Amino acid sequence: MKKARVAVLCSGGGTNLQAIIDAEKSGIIKNGEVVLVLANTKKAYALERAENAGIEHAYYTKKMCGGQEAFEDKLIEVLDGHDIDLIVLAGFMAILSEKFTSHYPKRIINIHPSLIPSFCGEGFYGLKVHEAALAKGVKVTGATVHFVNEIPDGGEIIMQKAVNVRPGDTPEKLQLRVMKQAEWKIFPAAVEQVSAEIVKNKENA
Ligand code: GRF
Repeated sequence: MKKARVAVLCSGGGTNLQAIIDAEKSGIIKNGEVVLVLANTKKAYALERAENAGIEHAYYTKKMCGGQEAFEDKLIEVLDGHDIDLIVLAGFMAILSEKFTSHYPKRIINIHPSLIPSFCGEGFYGLKVHEAALAKGVKVTGATVHFVNEIPDGGEIIMQKAVNVRPGDTPEKLQLRVMKQAEWKIFPAAVEQVSAEIVKNKENA
């Protein structure tokens, strides 16, 4: 069986990347293979995780490429050059235009640290999401994996998992619980689900 070729795009710590790498090793991900890790900053620790796992990796900044359009063109060139089937945005803090997203319909997935449609869309990223959840006083939050289209956090939902808010939570505490209990579980599961779908479609093509 030919596996789906997966690229993971990161900007930061890469704990979700690590969860995906570990899930591939342990056999939770059977239909996909992470063959490329890309970052939009040299500082992304995710690059080191890729290095340690023996996965090809590189970084490109907007500045290096000469602007937003050239940056996206570079990403497309590299992704297509590697025959990537599935693009996984794992804490990728760069804006991607409709030109980019429409190049990969139902081939880009993202994780968002809330139960969409709550606390999502423009301006909701990182700790801001958890700050907003605590300010609203919700008792349950969670994470969502969704397909990426031109609307921020607006693509079709693939998987969600709820996480309880606890008395005394700070945004940092809640962020960590959402990662441990939801993100690191549903993201690898969603990579497997979408990869299996891609493999099936290829076999039937
Ligand atoms: C996660 O909280 C994810 O939900 C958000 O960015 C963060 C990435 O963390 N999109 P990491 O780089 O995977 O550790």
